[in-house]
Amino acid sequence: MSETPHNNIESTLVENRLFEPSSNMVASAAISGMGGYNALCQEAADDFEGFWAKRAKQHLHWSKPFTKVLDESNAPFYTWFDDGELNASVNCLDRHMGTPTEHKTAIIFEADDGQVTKVSYRDLLTRVAKFANVLKAQGVQSGERVMIYMPMTIEGVVAMQACARIGATHSVVFGGFSAKALQERAIDIGAVAIVTANYQMRGGKELPLKAIVDEAMALGGCDAIHTVIVYQRTQTAVNMVAGRDYFMHDLEAVASEQCEPEMVNAEHPLFVLYTSGSTGKPKGVQHATAGYLLWAKMTMEWTFDLKDSDVFWCTADIGWITGHTYVAYGPLAAGATQIVFEGVPTFPNAGRFWQVIERHKATIFYTAPTAIRSLIKASTSDESVHPKNSDLTSLRIIGSVGEPINPEAWMWYHRHVGGERCPIVDTFWQTETGGHMITPLPGATTLVPGSCTLPLPGIMASIVDEAGHDLPHGAGGLLVVKRPWPSMIRNIWGDSARFKKSYFPDELGGTTYLAGDGAVRSEERGYFRITGRIDDVLNVSGHRMGTMEIESALVAHTDLVAEAAVVGRPDDLTGEAIVAFVVLKGARPEGEEAQRIAKILRDWVGKEIGPIAKPKEVRFGDNLPKTRSGKIMRRLLRNLANGEAITQDISTLENPAILDQLLKPL
Ligand code: PRX
Repeated sequence: MSETPHNNIESTLVENRLFEPSSNMVASAAISGMGGYNALCQEAADDFEGFWAKRAKQHLHWSKPFTKVLDESNAPFYTWFDDGELNASVNCLDRHMGTPTEHKTAIIFEADDGQVTKVSYRDLLTRVAKFANVLKAQGVQSGERVMIYMPMTIEGVVAMQACARIGATHSVVFGGFSAKALQERAIDIGAVAIVTANYQMRGGKELPLKAIVDEAMALGGCDAIHTVIVYQRTQTAVNMVAGRDYFMHDLEAVASEQCEPEMVNAEHPLFVLYTSGSTGKPKGVQHATAGYLLWAKMTMEWTFDLKDSDVFWCTADIGWITGHTYVAYGPLAAGATQIVFEGVPTFPNAGRFWQVIERHKATIFYTAPTAIRSLIKASTSDESVHPKNSDLTSLRIIGSVGEPINPEAWMWYHRHVGGERCPIVDTFWQTETGGHMITPLPGATTLVPGSCTLPLPGIMASIVDEAGHDLPHGAGGLLVVKRPWPSMIRNIWGDSARFKKSYFPDELGGTTYLAGDGAVRSEERGYFRITGRIDDVLNVSGHRMGTMEIESALVAHTDLVAEAAVVGRPDDLTGEAIVAFVVLKGARPEGEEAQRIAKILRDWVGKEIGPIAKPKEVRFGDNLPKTRSGKIMRRLLRNLANGEAITQDISTLENPAILDQLLKPL
């Protein structure tokens, strides 16, 4: 990476800093130079279906080859490779048997306490087959749904792969979500079984999982769940319900190591992953087997330029889409050696990430800006956890995902982690897109800090106005994708109407994918920069949270809360922070009483949704600022949360005196 010497001022005129790919990288990368990139874009433009058909044949093993590619007859319910059949776990594991990859390390697992366990592709297949037999023996059938509520462990990946092997659709719920969140998702999807662990280890602490599953079941409604399988992560005993709960090791002890995979249709739902939307309850994003897997495998090569000798490390939890695509599926389909890390970046100290990279000689490192920002902060106050104390020379590519990376954090990442030689792939994508959409390519793209640069070949991304008209470079608008792509969301589980409305609105013609983000393209290069969500979705530490979800959780405290409105405000560390404006049923509290109630409400939201949804700040008013027709003026609340001057017209405000009450933090 060489920096073109336009200017070196870090926080201003950042758009002038350019980083060219090194000649070595251009020479060896899967997509070589802009020539290589442009040629692929042209190929896709000339023969869109042929382009994807070629890749689907090249990257996937089919038990029955497809003859159809894209079917648009029922748009926006697009299908891909629809008459083909395959199995995802075969494509991640069996495909490597009999090749040199069979005995290669698939997973280097580093536990929270630093213990390391390695598993080869051969061993992983055996474990997956065994657990697939366990699921079958418990009566789980192809097409049924299994919840996975597991820590970051080999067993978590095994559970996902085993579901895929028998054609069961998995739905992973992040281990930080509450019993209520788990219960709602289990009901929505009609799960028949849950795979969990007794406890999870995070930052030296033993945190319950099985007890939360019990709590979720006790909330009622999960009647279809007949089996709970418990991985015994720690020695601490948990309550086991006879006839329903079984330890993974007990069931595995009597299971065969051979499991014939269930071949499924290309469109068979591989998984449903819940994510937040702007309205209502979380959406069950449904992904199809073939298109999704193609993307997971292909982007490992396109974006990460994966080579056989690489040691890949994606720090995302399997509870999020990044952990699905770039832990549970992509690296395995591509035959990579990958690190799976159980712990947190700050335990036993904030140098842990750098120590893990050094210990296992990671070559590709993929994490979120929020982690980078917090580690910058930690290493500023404590030199001993600075990346310079670890040997990071093994790294060759580093990546960022989940939220915009601010240029300062980008520069620090580039210098102190990437040693000024590693390209940074700032990958823009979403739960709904299945994998990378707009991202630099390490051997092709000139980098600009803070920009995710250009769409992958075949991704027809554009920026349009509210009526769907293309906007010129330099003008901000809605990010859309004009043609379908193989790994796109297929539906919202059980809610086709919401799927159409959220992602393919009539206003844009009904067939254009609306990402939900604002974006702008640079004048010079047409590079994309994501400006943030255009809906009521917040991005807190790279986690998506709907403001409505948090509001619903607050008003569910019926003893205390009369009304609540939640907005986001920029935060140096977490990207956005949650600010809740609350009207209590009783009098507006002040002083210590306000602090006490704020804490009750924060804990309440933590219990209702999960700790990641806890408002950073709670402010109390006698009312909320509303128009005369009773609409909450959210823009105004955002101004208040940000401490900004109110410049807009407040003449329509019913109750202007309220603003004074809501002006200041407690
Ligand atoms: O707002 C965008 C932001 O994260 C949203 C998607 O969140 P989620 O479905 O949880 O998936 C996160 C991991 C892929 C997007 O709508 N986002 C994601 N990546 C970037 C980003 N914003 C800016 N730059 C990115 N690289």
